[in-house]
This record gives sequence, C-alpha cells and structure tokens, in this order.
Amino acid sequence: MSTTIIRSIKDLPIEGRRTFIRVDFNVPLTEDGQVADDTRIQAALPTIEHARAQGARIVLASHLGRPKGKRNPKFSLVPVGERLAELLGTEVMVPDDCVGDGPKKLVQDLREGQIVLLENLRFHAGEEADDEGFAKQLAQLCEIYVNDAFGAAHRAHASVHALPRLVPQRGAGLLMEKEVRFLGQLLEKPERPFVAVLGGAKVSDKIGVVDNLLTKVDTIVVGGAMAYTFWAAKGVHLGKSLIEEDKIQQARRSLLKAESRGVQFLLPTDHVMVRDVRDGAPSEVWGNQGFPGDGIAVDIGPESIDRFTKAIEGAHTVFWNGPMGIFEMASFANGTNKIAQAVARASGTTVVGGGDSISALKKSGFMPFISHVSTGGGASLELIEGRELPGVEALRVPRPEAG
Ligand code: 3PG
Repeated sequence: MSTTIIRSIKDLPIEGRRTFIRVDFNVPLTEDGQVADDTRIQAALPTIEHARAQGARIVLASHLGRPKGKRNPKFSLVPVGERLAELLGTEVMVPDDCVGDGPKKLVQDLREGQIVLLENLRFHAGEEADDEGFAKQLAQLCEIYVNDAFGAAHRAHASVHALPRLVPQRGAGLLMEKEVRFLGQLLEKPERPFVAVLGGAKVSDKIGVVDNLLTKVDTIVVGGAMAYTFWAAKGVHLGKSLIEEDKIQQARRSLLKAESRGVQFLLPTDHVMVRDVRDGAPSEVWGNQGFPGDGIAVDIGPESIDRFTKAIEGAHTVFWNGPMGIFEMASFANGTNKIAQAVARASGTTVVGGGDSISALKKSGFMPFISHVSTGGGASLELIEGRELPGVEALRVPRPEAG
C-alpha cells in the first residue's frame, strides 16, 4: 500500500478558511481581449461551487498565455474574471497583481463564499522558475491549497509544485480528480478492445506516448503528418510529405515492438494529396504506390477513414489525441471529422484530449457523446506516456495511521 495519499477537496476543512485554488484559466482570447472559449472556466465550476457552498474564502489563481515573467495587459485575467462572474452569478474580484500588499489585504478581508481571482501568475518570473520565494509569497494567501489545474499539472511551476509543499492542508479539486481517474483508468484497467488514435504533425511530441500505449492497447491508429515518419521507417516515402528524419529509427523500434506484442498498428494507406498547401488547393487521392514526388499528403483518404472507423467503432475503450490532417484548413478536415464521429459512436469509455481533436468534436456536435474530454493537452499526453505529473505528485501527504 502506498504510504501517501491525495486528499479530495471534499475531505479538506475548507469552511471559513482561505482556500487557494489553482485553476487552469489559460483560455483563448479574441482579438479584442474577450474570452473566445470558456470550456476551461466551465470545467472548474464544480470545484468553485463546492467551495462556495462550504463557505470557503476563495482565492483563485491561474496563468494565461506566456508573458515571460513580465506584466503585459494582453494577458490580464480581468476578462476571465468577468466571464467567471457571469457564469457564477456573483462578484469576482481581480486585484492588479497576484502577490504583495494589495492582494494580501483583499484576501484578508474576504468573507465566506467570496471570490478573488489573482492576476496572472506568469507576470512574475518566479512562477515558471518554481521559485521558493515566490511560492512563499503565495503561501501567505492560503490556509488550504487545492489544485484543480490539470492542464498545468505537467509544469513544475511555483503555484503547482513549490507552493503545495508549503501548505500541509492540501488536495485535489473535483476536475483534477476526474481527469486523473479517467486517464488513469485507461492505463490501469481498460475494457477491451482498447484502441488509441493519435495524430498531429509532430511525431516527436507523441513517440513516447506511442511507446507506452503499445504496452496497453489492442490497436493503435496513427494519422496526421506523424504517420509519414512511420511509413518512412517502413521504407515508404510519400513525396514531399512531412517527416522527421531523426525519429525514423525510434518509429522503427515502435513498429517492431507492436509486432512482437501482437498490437495491431494501423497507418493510413491512402492520402489526400496536394502540390500546394493552401485551403481549396486542387487535391487528389493517392495510395502509397506511385505517390507523386512533388505531392504532399494533407489528410487521410476514404479507404483509411473506413479502416480506422471500423477499428474505433468496434472498441470498448478509445483514447484520441490529434488530427488526421491539416484540420485548420476546411478542405483537409474531412478525415479528422470522420474520426470524431467514429469516436462518438464507439460504445464504452471514450477519452479525448488535445485542442484540435476537441474542436473537431465541438464542430461535429458529437461532444456530448464522449465519456471524458480532457482539459489538458500536454498534461494528458504526459500522463498517458506514463510520466509522473509534478502538480499531482506535489499534492501527496502521508497516509494517516489506521485506527
Ligand atoms: C495548456 O494550455 O496546455 C496549459 O495551460 C499549460 O500552458 P503552457 O503550455 O503555456 O505551460
């Protein structure tokens, strides 16, 4: 039995206490600075509502974008605070910093159920540097620490790593618990057949994930430009399609590993080919044979869609991360959209992560049919890769003695 546990916010004595909740409000903003997509804000609501219902004095903290340790109004959390206030139907106070006398006074005066959203943590270089001094300043704002920012749990930054260790009463928020439960289940006891679908441009981002999944899944489906590096490892070159030369050897090892473990490894066998990558460019469907030397594969073809769909729809567990082609261009989004449909139709547990996969699901209207849509792109991949997440590990406390 492990000697440590991670407490749930439900088991922490937050009533009347200053409860620091690290959230991931790193949301996309419109040109004029409004929240363009509030999925991550909505995902944190159950934890915030719970804390309010318990009469906690709530201190929310997040990063937004990458302001590189400097104050930059473009990355202010003020519009996020406004959206949160709308969603909760209550006031959300946003001081002009996250540490120092201003926020300290505001937090000191908080009444039960009231909410402060601190200004962007990344306005201070100490955040990304995991600086102990910065974490100590944040610690002055809390009696209890809760991390609900699954999306940032793979970053060893001060508010997710150094800070919780300074606060003995600490634990996970409801979103964090849900994310770790769904993603953990995939690795521990998936219902079979378990099919993983990976896509996206860069094989280097996902080769570790492929490797770990090969010990867990029955079938792995690889699409998007990363598939062409795997084809190259098999000696098949598709014109000028993107490949990562320095990853060919590793891709070859993964293919051999799949073979030795009896895992089915599906790659696209036909491709939407263009000579000029732009939305609306003339395209043709080609198989691997005789693929034009100046051609570039930008999406999976109909035969691949059919093979992938059959594998996905027959699965009892599906994990999907990454598009099947240049999904941002409408002309090359068909493969990704068809995969979104297939994942939504699969029975059993379906887990989807990654911005492009999620936006394909949203567009197709199939989002409600997915068991769990992860709010963490990088974090969900690192967890699936079998790595420990610093933000999760920092929440551990010694298991209480029995009796
Ligand atoms: C994310 O959007 O994946 C998280 O909020 C982490 O953001 P980062 O990649 O800027 O650290």
